Amino acid sequence: MDFNLSEEHIMIQNAARDFAQNELKPGVIERDEKQEFPHDQIKKMGDLGFLGMMVDPKYGGSGLDAVSYVIAMEEISKVDASASVVMSVNNSLVCWGLETYGTEEQKQKYLVPLAKGDIIGAFCLSEPEAGSDATSQKTTAIEKEDHYLLNGTKNWITNGNNASVYIVIAQTDKEKGYKGINAFIVEKGMDGFVVGPKENKLGIRGSDTHSLMFTNVKIPKQNRIGEDGFGFKFAMKTLAGGRIGIASQALGIASGAYELALKYSKERKAFGKEISKHQAIAFKLADMATQIEAARHLCMKAAWDKDQGNNYDLSSAMAKLFAAEMAMQVTIEAVQIHGGYGFVKEYHVERLMRDAKITQIYEGTSEIQKIVISRNVLNK
Ligand code: CAA
Repeated sequence: MDFNLSEEHIMIQNAARDFAQNELKPGVIERDEKQEFPHDQIKKMGDLGFLGMMVDPKYGGSGLDAVSYVIAMEEISKVDASASVVMSVNNSLVCWGLETYGTEEQKQKYLVPLAKGDIIGAFCLSEPEAGSDATSQKTTAIEKEDHYLLNGTKNWITNGNNASVYIVIAQTDKEKGYKGINAFIVEKGMDGFVVGPKENKLGIRGSDTHSLMFTNVKIPKQNRIGEDGFGFKFAMKTLAGGRIGIASQALGIASGAYELALKYSKERKAFGKEISKHQAIAFKLADMATQIEAARHLCMKAAWDKDQGNNYDLSSAMAKLFAAEMAMQVTIEAVQIHGGYGFVKEYHVERLMRDAKITQIYEGTSEIQKIVISRNVLNK
């Protein structure tokens, strides 16, 4: 077993770190406050290959492994989780499914521009009444001669307005339950497709989250992904990879907050010495460092499972559960170590604390991860 990063992994880490510090950090506070999408920065992330990291170069991707993806996600999330959620959704929830299950025609038309970062994508599963209970899809896609007719509403869609391509999960045959669910590729601008207003969120405020409304949208039959009835399993398999991305995001948010708290604790003096020399603070830092390291190992294990071709349902759910809970605790402590300064925006940690919260909610709440983990453990 080798815990050292390879030379290539270190290069990727340095590239992601430099990009985050030089391109994302300036303006991150203002983008959060004004809810501004990082358009220019996302374009540059595409040029650097961060939006299609694991896609085969023949489809415009970087051809890297999932370990590289975790490393880059951590560095980018340390600074700007609004940018890293765009990266996670595009890589894990959109490109992966198209590359793994798409037809050659779908790959050429949609995957290539998505992997290059020329356009970005969105993954549309959640509905007003089907977030955790993903089998209860109310959105319908009724089969007609040469197309499906899509009707319904999707909620909480990351990249909702800025995406050009949307993977939409819909019920095609209610009688068949989850076996009557399919996944479709929907293009922005199709007749009957309307993007609702932007959500005003607690965290990841630079990313755009919207409801989407579909009224009699005609989806060509060739835009269905996989065999008829494959949509639910497609969504579950896609989310398993997505959870590696969000676990790494939580890891990055926590390590970003920890690094700031560590630095601050060595500068700030109270009662005649640096606060890091008070055991009350030193012990907090010890707990934070330990928790972060444990989360990093879980993220790496899940990525390694994926790279080896092992099943990663269990390891990705464990990584997501632990990293998200850990990120919430660590960011709260980072604010506490900063005292009053932690409560003001220019010190960054209050934003990281707000951003951490969503990692316990999206791509399956912590409670959903426990369902996945307990089922895997009990069935062993
Ligand atoms: N891989 C392959 N097949 C899977 C699977 C997986 N990972 N998970 C489940 N399945 C299969 C099951 O084996 C079963 O098939 P069989 O009958 O052939 O065995 C079928 O799918 C139904 O599975 P379940 O009976 O387990 O389904 P369930 O209704 O009990 O739900 C659940 C399971 C884990 C709770 C699931 O509904 C779930 O993950 N919910 C959370 C959804 C979620 O994460 N939503 C977030 C939205 S996306 C998002 O947030 C993106 C963003 O914007 C950032």
